[in-house]
Amino acid sequence: MLNNLADIEQEITSCPVGNKEELEAYRLKYLSRNGLLTSLFEDLKGVSREEKPAAGKKLNEIKRMAEAKFNTAKAELEDKDTGSADMDLTIPGRSFSVGREHILSQTLAEMVKIFREIGFKVTDGPELEEEFYNFDALNTPAHHPARDMQDTFYVQDKNDRDKKYVLRTHTSPVQIRTMLKNKPPLRIVSPGKVFRNETVTYKNYFMFQQIEGLYVDKNVSMRDLKGVLDYFFRKFYGEKTVTRFIPSFFPFTEPSGQVDVSCFICGGKGCKTCKETGWLEIGGCGMVDPNVFRSVNIDPEEYTGYAFGMGIERLAMMKYGIKDIRTFYQNDVRFLDQF
Ligand code: DAH
Repeated sequence: MLNNLADIEQEITSCPVGNKEELEAYRLKYLSRNGLLTSLFEDLKGVSREEKPAAGKKLNEIKRMAEAKFNTAKAELEDKDTGSADMDLTIPGRSFSVGREHILSQTLAEMVKIFREIGFKVTDGPELEEEFYNFDALNTPAHHPARDMQDTFYVQDKNDRDKKYVLRTHTSPVQIRTMLKNKPPLRIVSPGKVFRNETVTYKNYFMFQQIEGLYVDKNVSMRDLKGVLDYFFRKFYGEKTVTRFIPSFFPFTEPSGQVDVSCFICGGKGCKTCKETGWLEIGGCGMVDPNVFRSVNIDPEEYTGYAFGMGIERLAMMKYGIKDIRTFYQNDVRFLDQF
């Protein structure tokens, strides 16, 4: 039997166990209940008394060796399964793209911060607005061209045909809501989306964002308005920025003005961005019209105030040299990633 065992030991040692199938075949052949080793232990009973101790010892050795070989091979195969045995730590990792704040949100945050620092509170109002707030109370009566169907998106109340809503065409209705709810002194800015039924081009979009400003107190003058906008634009576009005010018209302010800032690209000399004028048109402003005060029950003899409004996309386009307003809303990460 001993000779026979030596051959079997040799056979077990060289039996391949490099994959799961081979290992299972090995187990069945040698280690299982019906395997070769079990039957050899059976055979041992018939071995002569002289030979038995040596054969028994050898057989036990072979069994231990066979089991050790099985366990080692099994552990190695499991390691391979999880990849840890041959993991290459030098391969560069996968990079994940991290989201970032949209350039308009960044611009808006910067604007709001500047106004907050000088005492303006941030408020907001609904995007679906009643005509009264968007137009009537802002001294824009029913026949006013600003209400024209071409400009305004009207929304009808399903249950009340006479009640019309509008997608607000500007952030100015927040002035009315603020003045109806609070007593002066008032100092607010109100950013938000506005909607206009416009043909979409590189400079017009049917939805955009504005920021509205309002200051109401005793003895507020045009000088305060100019001071605050001048301060704002110097903070926003840089200390060298110069602001100019030219007469304009808005139903809700009297007098009304258009605010221009000196072109921060050429410093006012004239370039492509400012169309060789040296100035960039930024927004509207003026002194709150007495009719607006009357519509919110504030006595125009006692209080005065200024208001302004500007488009956030426009400010961002000028600051970052963005040529097409549509790019803000196309969600192309190649564009958004630049800021
Ligand atoms: N609401 C105006 C617009 O959308 C902008 C504006 C002009 C706002 C003058 C004001 C203002 O508060 O005083 O064009």
